[in-house]
Amino acid sequence: MSKNTVNKVTKKIVCGNWKMNPLSLKEAEKLLIEISKSFSLIKKTEIIICPPFIYLEPLRRLLKAKSYKLKPNLGAQDSFWGDKGAYTGEISVEMLYNIGARYVILGHSERRALGENNNDINKKIKASISAGLRPILCVGESIRDENHEYLNFIKMQIEECLNGISKDSISKVIIAYEPIWAIGKGSYPATPEEFREMNIFIRKILNDKFGAKMIGKIRIIYGGSADEKNTEGFIKDGEADGFLLGRASLDAKKFSKIVEICETLDK
Ligand code: 13P
Repeated sequence: MSKNTVNKVTKKIVCGNWKMNPLSLKEAEKLLIEISKSFSLIKKTEIIICPPFIYLEPLRRLLKAKSYKLKPNLGAQDSFWGDKGAYTGEISVEMLYNIGARYVILGHSERRALGENNNDINKKIKASISAGLRPILCVGESIRDENHEYLNFIKMQIEECLNGISKDSISKVIIAYEPIWAIGKGSYPATPEEFREMNIFIRKILNDKFGAKMIGKIRIIYGGSADEKNTEGFIKDGEADGFLLGRASLDAKKFSKIVEICETLDK
């Protein structure tokens, strides 16, 4: 495949999905401080940290109190679609916005595994855009079959999750391709070529749905055992617009290195 077939947006995204880590606020603050201290001249990279819900507010306060040159954006790992009222245990998009979150990961495979479906995610995406949050929509197959059925699976995830989203709103959505087989300890990452093919495939779906004008504005990032060793390959050969990091986001050195590589590499 020739280079430059994928439409481009310049600012890359490095998003840390801390999942259910760390176990105390003290550790969360320490990690955020370590990460934030390492940035000074970051211009071409958007940094987002998505801690567990309960750390969002204290971490926002901590960032406000510090005079770091560059403060990461905060995001949530999920949200609910209802606006308020009798939804025990849920957290609304407006609540998230009001405590300073500006991004929200939606449709992560670990949430889908607990029962969330495309219809739920679609409602959450709509609610989050209305509240001023930028959704990071996760898609990804659990296995790759020889008949390429997984492509239909990804197409269905995207079409159902983005059903009814307007052309004006679609540029707010970030798509994270996270093959389930690549996520977590003991897994292996997709290759940059596998990502690149998926990147082109997803852009084709978005092109058919939202038109050519919009697709250059949508960022498609990679997640699944991404780390400082494969960052360069995903950007150069996969034309990734950035990363959704799990384990590597819990290690300040690795996370900072990935940001540094994103910053220095011109796609
Ligand atoms: P790992 O990077 O730990 O494989 O996790 C990826 C992920 O699920 C990010 O959302």
